[in-house]
Amino acid sequence: MAESAEINLEGKSYSFSTIEGTEHEEAIDIAKLRDQTGYVTYDPGYKNTGACKSAITFLDGEKGVLRYRGYPIEQLAESSSFLEVAYLLIYGALPTEQELTAFNDRISKHTLVHEDIRKIFAGFPSSTHPMAILSSLTCALTGFYPESINPNQTPAEVDLNIVRLLAKMSTIAAWTYKNSVGHPLNYPRNDLDYCSNFLYMMFSFPTEKYDVNPVVVKALNKLLILHADHEQNCSTSTVRLVGSSNASLYGSVSAGINALWGPLHGGANQEVIEMLEAIERDGGDTSKFINKAKDKEDPFRLMGFGHRVYKNFDPRAKIIKKAADEVLQELGVANSPLLKIAKELEEAALTDQYFIDRKLYPNVDFYSGIIYKALGIPSEMFTVLFALGRLPGWIAQWKEMRENKEPIGRPRQIYVGPLERDYQPIDQR
Ligand code: CMC
Repeated sequence: MAESAEINLEGKSYSFSTIEGTEHEEAIDIAKLRDQTGYVTYDPGYKNTGACKSAITFLDGEKGVLRYRGYPIEQLAESSSFLEVAYLLIYGALPTEQELTAFNDRISKHTLVHEDIRKIFAGFPSSTHPMAILSSLTCALTGFYPESINPNQTPAEVDLNIVRLLAKMSTIAAWTYKNSVGHPLNYPRNDLDYCSNFLYMMFSFPTEKYDVNPVVVKALNKLLILHADHEQNCSTSTVRLVGSSNASLYGSVSAGINALWGPLHGGANQEVIEMLEAIERDGGDTSKFINKAKDKEDPFRLMGFGHRVYKNFDPRAKIIKKAADEVLQELGVANSPLLKIAKELEEAALTDQYFIDRKLYPNVDFYSGIIYKALGIPSEMFTVLFALGRLPGWIAQWKEMRENKEPIGRPRQIYVGPLERDYQPIDQR
């Protein structure tokens, strides 16, 4: 690695030191660039900007590698539970059996939400998207835990709010669905594990006995783990940026939920299934949609394809594709027409020069919707499930940002607007 980088500006040379990460990622430290040279950098979309140092998640987009705290995603998805992964992300190490039991118990004890939250549900029009409700109610938790807005909370107080958020978000998420279909809201059950409890709150009725299907629990556990963190993506960067102003955990995560909702980010999982359904309704001709995606005059994009950092394959998509095959088989819906269309689309895109040239591969959202659908989860809830999965990552990144005492995030700009001009009275314009 180069020890320093020289920049020549207006006949003067400036030297900037370099930084190397543990996985040999190399960066030029330009923290003093403006002070020394008067120049700033210009990097729309932050494609080349390292905004922080982080010890949480490593990914190599070229090699298709993803690790949480050093552990390969493939191993975690195979062997771990979602709360174990949450513990790993937030506290930095895999828990011992005793630590995990204590953590699970703590989460279970905080799953109830204040009864007034039920009243807030009643105020949302039935047309409200579940992501809007999830983000509003996450922020509303500050009202129930007002000490959370104090930037000088003790570590124990911060930790309590972390546990509350992890526990209560699954209740709120399940209730957004129950509320949208007019069903009674189910209280959480502490005798069930995290995923079983979520499914119970989503799908049970007070009038009937509900048996949680272990196949569904296993699939949900895997999906949540695969979504749990993804370093400095749009929503996580949002959480860190909002949190850098000393905003509360609930407020910061609420902002992250909104960022995730966009169709170019987590909202893509809903868009993928709706696209596959549209292709099915249209007669199933995948080539027509591939051509639309390639047409620069057409705003249509093949949802679930492409990624800012994965330029070879998305390791999460590989695991999810295999899981989709297994889950659909086990649930007896292996011949799902949507899965057939998805496979055809993937094959066609992967052999098409347009997609090859641009390194566009199926991403995590391409197959997740097919599994969610098979699990009986309505498409409007898909991004809520993504948020539930991403929550430990947001929390870990918010906590790391605080512990590192990162400065408030405040990018510069290149102003290209009008030069100074005088105000004109309205009758002279
Ligand atoms: N369909 C058709 N063309 C595409 C697609 C697509 N899905 N994605 C990118 N391209 C083209 C794009 O038009 C551009 O072509 P050209 O160079 O000729 O102008 C080129 O590929 C590069 O695209 P970009 O938009 O500059 O790339 P980006 O890194 O800024 O965007 C992305 C990444 C994920 C936003 C984009 O690939 C996309 O819009 N994909 C569809 C939405 C999606 O599936 N999002 C979920 C991402 S994974 C979940 C998550 O972590 O958020």
